[in-house]
Amino acid sequence: MTLLELESVTASYGPVQVLDGVSLSVPEGGAVGILGANGAGKTTTLRAISGTVRAGGRILFDGSDIRGKRPDQVAALGIAHVPEGRGTFGALTVRENLRVGAYLRRDRKQIESDIDFLLELFPNLEERFKSNASALSGGEQQMLAVGRAFMAKPRLLLLDEASLGLAPSTAKTVYDAIAELRRESGIAMLVVEQNANLAFRLVDSATVLETGRSVLSGTSAELRGMDEIRRAYLGG
Ligand SMILES: Nc1ncnc2c1ncn2[C@@H]1O[C@H](COP(=O)(O)OP(=O)(O)O)[C@@H](O)[C@H]1O
Ligand SMILES: [Mg+2]
Repeated sequence: MTLLELESVTASYGPVQVLDGVSLSVPEGGAVGILGANGAGKTTTLRAISGTVRAGGRILFDGSDIRGKRPDQVAALGIAHVPEGRGTFGALTVRENLRVGAYLRRDRKQIESDIDFLLELFPNLEERFKSNASALSGGEQQMLAVGRAFMAKPRLLLLDEASLGLAPSTAKTVYDAIAELRRESGIAMLVVEQNANLAFRLVDSATVLETGRSVLSGTSAELRGMDEIRRAYLGG
């Protein structure tokens, strides 16, 4: 079953059109990557889905067109967005950040057991549970940002460049932790990443964007096998 489908999505900032026909689909429980160079329109694609930029085309979530909905309406439908640059609340503790993620929920007992579940998967966060988010390392902050999104109990998580500013080994650890969260929770993910090698630790398939347009998509194995992908996104 398809959970999210983008059909020829367009978007502009003022007079400048930056998306010019983005099409992709995410199956229920699947993880799909959006690869592409800096400026290709990856972040804007996620913004079009979460309602923070005006879009054209069709954006179907669970069969209904959500294009034009407000960000809070999109969130309430079960789409959580982990933006570029993470956006944790530095002055709040790890625990408080996770609770903020659950602000729309009323199932208090389940919230606590979801926090326990998350801390088992992300043991680094458990150690820092009472620390302020601002005191965490970059990798820990990224895990916290993902954890906060998870606490909303989304059906789909939008993840934007989780590797940004992290050392390579930390970025791998973060991606492997997110892959584990995906296996354990079954939440579908749409994952924006410039570094294809990292994305392939998490996603089953991916779409390549070039200047605002989907130019290619395939399974991770197919894309890894293509010379032009290797040259452009895999460092050789
Ligand atoms: N707020 C904005 N106002 C105007 N132009 C923007 C804005 N955000 C992004 N852009 C432009 O839109 C294009 C796509 O940007 P973006 O979606 O951020 O790409 P990516 O995430 O792939 O690096 C780029 O040319 C960028 O300069
Ligand atoms: Mg971006």
